[in-house]
Amino acid sequence: MILVTGGAGFIGANFTLAWIDKTGEPIVNLDKLTYAGNLGSLAPLRAEARHAFVRGDIADPALVGELLAQHRPRALVNFAAETHVDRSIHGPAAFVDTNVVGTFRLLETVRTWWSSLPKEDADAFRFLHVSTDEVYGSLAPDDHPFTEQSAYAPNSPYSASKAAADHLVRAYHHTYGLPTLTTNCSNNYGPLQFPEKLIPLMIVNAIAGKPLPVYGDGRNVRDWLYVGDHCAAIRAVLDGGVPGATYNVGGDAEMANLDVVGTICRILAELAPGRDYASLVTFVKDRPGHDRRYAIDASKLRRELGWRPEESFESGMRRTVRWYLDNDAWLAGVTSGEYHRWISLNYASGTR
Ligand code: NAD
Ligand code: DAU
Repeated sequence: MILVTGGAGFIGANFTLAWIDKTGEPIVNLDKLTYAGNLGSLAPLRAEARHAFVRGDIADPALVGELLAQHRPRALVNFAAETHVDRSIHGPAAFVDTNVVGTFRLLETVRTWWSSLPKEDADAFRFLHVSTDEVYGSLAPDDHPFTEQSAYAPNSPYSASKAAADHLVRAYHHTYGLPTLTTNCSNNYGPLQFPEKLIPLMIVNAIAGKPLPVYGDGRNVRDWLYVGDHCAAIRAVLDGGVPGATYNVGGDAEMANLDVVGTICRILAELAPGRDYASLVTFVKDRPGHDRRYAIDASKLRRELGWRPEESFESGMRRTVRWYLDNDAWLAGVTSGEYHRWISLNYASGTR
């Protein structure tokens, strides 16, 4: 079996659902259930004996140690993190607590348990750390996309905390021989994403006839990947990745934010006609320190492990918009008081 952390969040829940569906291997899911974690996302697994959910913190050595001793997982996939850049600007402490200290405590607990395993089990074990392309900083328009050799240059408290975690993972391999794997992925989108990030926020606001708040000039570029393709990449790295290695994951789908919002409006006009969605676009004050461009060179992953994304940006966005239109119950479950507090804090008077 495997242990995942943060499996009630956006990517972790997609990964857990796909894992049971595609591998059938038992999975234990440890999640603190912060505002971003949602058991409703795991509802299809309610009666599934191969999935066990445990509420808890990756920074709790007693709990994590007990789970490791009890289940003896062959791998751990660490999704648990604070993940929203704007929240890291308003309040960085939680990012240091979970992404830096939490990852450190998790590594240390895993190392203690792993050191006691028979050699064969210790060699076969994998610690897969899910990270981001933001650790590499920002690209100029003509720069080559980030490779695994790109220097780390994180610019936000979020990306700095993820970079620190990546360095700890690297050190635990180099110093102690822990069989780690790290993936650095570009921006994900798809079902089950909390509507604070660009794509779900725009879809949800557009459906409700609310303003679509575009930061700055809307020309910042991100490299978008459908979440199911990211989950497939993680499975490929878990199966065939070389311990100690890092793998960039990206969809070759660079888009300016305004073009992303335009695509959402176009698809909505087709699937839910009756409103002039594009007229809702509103330019608001820019994010402080806003990275201009991310792009990923995923050729190592393609070449060495044969991974390819299945969705194009157009097909993935159609699936995503359709999913949000069809899932108001999930949406109502996640847009609680905390959600409204965040929206009024971040978008006060439409000017941020
Ligand atoms: P998310 O914010 O949707 O979910 C994070 C999950 O982690 C939540 O369920 C939350 O409850 C849980 N969590 C937070 N702190 C915890 C703790 N201390 N102990 C246990 N659980 C805790 O995040 P996501 O978008 O699904 O991202 C998952 C991972 O992928 C993160 O590590 C993120 O840095 C990385 N990543 C995300 C993207 C993206 O575009 N979303 C892209 C590349 C990498
Ligand atoms: O690159 C991978 C990263 O992508 C992940 O590691 C992060 O966890 C994830 O949050 C994401 O970070 P971004 O900052 O790129 O994503 P976000 O959806 O917050 O913003 C995408 C772009 O859209 C960015 O240029 C800011 C802009 N934006 C965002 C919001 C929320 C707006 O213009 N308006 C908005 O309201």
